[in-house]
Amino acid sequence: MNRILATLAAVTLAAPVFADGHASGDAEAGAKVFNKCKSCHMIESDSGEKIVKGGRSGPNLYGIAARQPGTADGYKYGKDLIAAGDTLGGNWTEAEFVDWVADPRAWVRKTLDSSSAKSKMSFKLKDGEDAANVWAYLVSVGPGS
Ligand code: HEC
Repeated sequence: MNRILATLAAVTLAAPVFADGHASGDAEAGAKVFNKCKSCHMIESDSGEKIVKGGRSGPNLYGIAARQPGTADGYKYGKDLIAAGDTLGGNWTEAEFVDWVADPRAWVRKTLDSSSAKSKMSFKLKDGEDAANVWAYLVSVGPGS
């Protein structure tokens, strides 16, 4: 009985997260794409579970679909990514994420409408399908799923 209630609660709680983090890609394929990210990014839940051990030069990507760009606790972002998140005024979406990973500097410049904005992420993932897949993977290991 308790387990059924817990499952129902989890499903109910998950619904808005899925709505926000709508994912069109293939999470399984995205797990492999994440190998390109983990030298700089870990995925670690709020309770400290290490979903993927990774580097610390970039922020923890746990729950990325449920936060505004530039707002993970305890990570020192570049000021332009923080400002871009404020300009956007909402959480990461698949479309913004795919654009960001294709060219982080171009994304902050476009979002801030500034030709001098910079990003601390030098890596680029040009393939839009890989990007959508890694988004689906991050949503699938995020809170509420
Ligand atoms: C060489 C290191 C490096 C690699 C590889 C890398 N990143 Fe990053 N990433 C960073 C850094 C540094 C930042 C912080 C950028 C800033 O503050 O301007 C960042 C920021 C991000 C953010 C914004 C997070 C937030 O909290 O708003 C996302 C999303 C992201 N990276 C996704 C990825 C994905 C997906 C990959 C793999 C396809 C990847 N990164 C590969 C270094 C990296």
